[in-house]
Amino acid sequence: MSLRASLDVVPTGAALGAEIRRVDLRAIDDGVFAAIHDAWLAHQVLLFRGQTLSDADLIAFSRCFGELDHAPMQETGRRFVEGHPELYVVSNVVENGIPIGSLGAGEAVWHTDMSYLPDPPKASVLMAREVPSQGGDTSFCTMYGALETLPDSLRARVAHLRVKHDGTYNSGGYVRAGLTPTDDPRMAPGTLHPLICVHPETGRRHLYLGRRRNAWLEGLSLEESDALLDQIWETATNDALTWRHHWRVGDVVMWDNRCVMHRRDAFDPHARRVMHRTQIKGDRRAGA
Ligand code: OGA
Ligand code: MN
Repeated sequence: MSLRASLDVVPTGAALGAEIRRVDLRAIDDGVFAAIHDAWLAHQVLLFRGQTLSDADLIAFSRCFGELDHAPMQETGRRFVEGHPELYVVSNVVENGIPIGSLGAGEAVWHTDMSYLPDPPKASVLMAREVPSQGGDTSFCTMYGALETLPDSLRARVAHLRVKHDGTYNSGGYVRAGLTPTDDPRMAPGTLHPLICVHPETGRRHLYLGRRRNAWLEGLSLEESDALLDQIWETATNDALTWRHHWRVGDVVMWDNRCVMHRRDAFDPHARRVMHRTQIKGDRRAGA
C-alpha cells in the first residue's frame, strides 16, 4: 500500500524544475516526504515558496533525505557557521571587514557542488534569507537532457572517458583556502569521475561535468581535451536545457546535485544577498 500523499506539483514548463505548493517544510510526515522525494527525482529541482525555516528547521528538513555533509571551507578560511557545521553561507555581505559567506556578488559559473570530492553530495538545499530586487537569479540545467542532446559521434568518442573535476577554484572564481592555484588541470587537486554516469536512484544515464575550468579528459592531450570539452559544454548548457529562478525571501530550492548543474547571475554588490545551504551526503557514483 502506498503511503504517498498527494502534492500540488506545478512543473516550470522548462526542461526541469517544479514548484511544490501548499507544503510547510517545518512539518512533513512520511507520506508528504515520500511524495516530495518522488517529485524531486522526477523534476530534478524543486521550489518551495514562502517558507519560514530557522537554520535548525532547514537542517532538519534536509536530514529527511539522508546524512548531511559539513559545509566546504569559506573563502576566508573560516570553516563553519558557529554551532551549525552543516550550513554553508552564500553571501556578498561583509561584516567587520570579513565576508559572512562565499561567492561574492559576481557571476557564479555553471557547476556541480563539491564534485572535486570522490563522493560529492547528492543534493543541495538552498534557502533565501535576503535577496536583491534584481540580479542574482540562479539557473539550473539538466544533465539527463545534456546527454540526450549530445551528437551520437561525440557521445561515442567520450563515452568511456573520465573527466577531472577541479578542486582549485570555486564557482565564483576564488581559490579555495589553503590551495596554491594552478591552471594545469592534470596537476590540479580534484577527482576523476566518469563523464557519463548512471543515476543510482532513477537508473537514467546523465553527463557529469562538474566545472569547465581546469577540466580535463583523462588520457587526452590538453588540446584535444579542451576541444571536446568545449563542444560538450556548449551542448550541455544550451538554453533549452535550463530553468532560471528569480528568488524571493523564503524560497527554498533543492536540486539533485548528481544530474543538475547550476549557475548564478551577478548582482549589485551594494545590495545584500544572504542564502543558507545544506548538502546531503552522496551515494557513490557509478560509471555507465
Ligand atoms: C550554491 C550556489 C548560487 C546562488 O549554493 O551551491 O552555487 O544562487 N549558489 O547563490
Ligand atoms: Mn553551488
